[in-house]
Amino acid sequence: MPDGQKIAGRVFVTRDLAPPVIQRLRDEFSEVDVWEPYGPPAPRELAERTTGCVALLTMVSDRVDAALLDAAPTLKVVANMAVGYNNVDIAAAAARGVVITNTPNVLEETTADMAFALMLAVARRVVESDADTRAGNWGLWHPGLWLGNDVHGATLGIVGLGTIGSAVARRAGGFDMRIKYTARNRQSETEAAVGAEYVPDLRDLLGQSDFVSLHVPLTDATRDLIGVPEFRAMKSTAYLINTSRGDVVNTDALLAALQDGAIAGAGIDVTAPEPIPPDHPLLKQSNLVITPHLGSATHATRIRMAMLAAENAIAACTGAPVPNAVTG
Ligand code: GLV
Repeated sequence: MPDGQKIAGRVFVTRDLAPPVIQRLRDEFSEVDVWEPYGPPAPRELAERTTGCVALLTMVSDRVDAALLDAAPTLKVVANMAVGYNNVDIAAAAARGVVITNTPNVLEETTADMAFALMLAVARRVVESDADTRAGNWGLWHPGLWLGNDVHGATLGIVGLGTIGSAVARRAGGFDMRIKYTARNRQSETEAAVGAEYVPDLRDLLGQSDFVSLHVPLTDATRDLIGVPEFRAMKSTAYLINTSRGDVVNTDALLAALQDGAIAGAGIDVTAPEPIPPDHPLLKQSNLVITPHLGSATHATRIRMAMLAAENAIAACTGAPVPNAVTG
């Protein structure tokens, strides 16, 4: 777009996104500031670079709170490159008239793939046996070696049958799993479409499941949703899979459940805190498969997310309908 027709103002992008996304922003904004270092900006750096901007393109690891918004009174939009937006103080943004957007409908299938990857990896001991093979121990093969548990034919308990939960359920159908779910509101249409049985009570669902997969947003109601009593309700042969948010699970309770055999194992892509400190005792648990918040991390999906975040930022600054404004 010719300079005269560009959005008069700066957008700060908190990571060095793919060139076509940065180019799209350069085509529309008179100024584009990109955070070049590999790691995230510290809160002070984030505030400094956001001051004077009309738009901010953030990641889930960037905290957008009242202090940041107050440092940037010209800000019109925060385009979060994630479907979740628990890193943003929505009420503070609404009070200041700042539009908040997310990136739904482009990452759900990819995240569901990740939930399945964790389920298969932990139940079939893929990571432990990979390490053992690399250590030169294949020669010790024995019929009792690295026994795991079947995913096919098992009962999958899904907590939250939204777009990601239902994508996991569709995959589970291909593995002949029995699919059960719980949700704040019964999802009659979706449950019929994916062949899932509704279990109103979370603890009942936990007690009936061989795999429990979490697909709820982080809110006050879901923080520590899975704690000591919930681990006690699970079968000792069951696995917990978490690709939602780390804070949905109480970390101390998870550690204890893995240590004392209350559950067979866990596959987690998210932790509380995040990142997990390198000396955290969870990392010593061989019955845990852990990945660093990679749910949507494929080449194609990350481009789609970034482009959607860019389109949201552009729309909010040009007065066009904003595709993915969130209200809380
Ligand atoms: C990732 O965690 C997301 O919310 O998209």
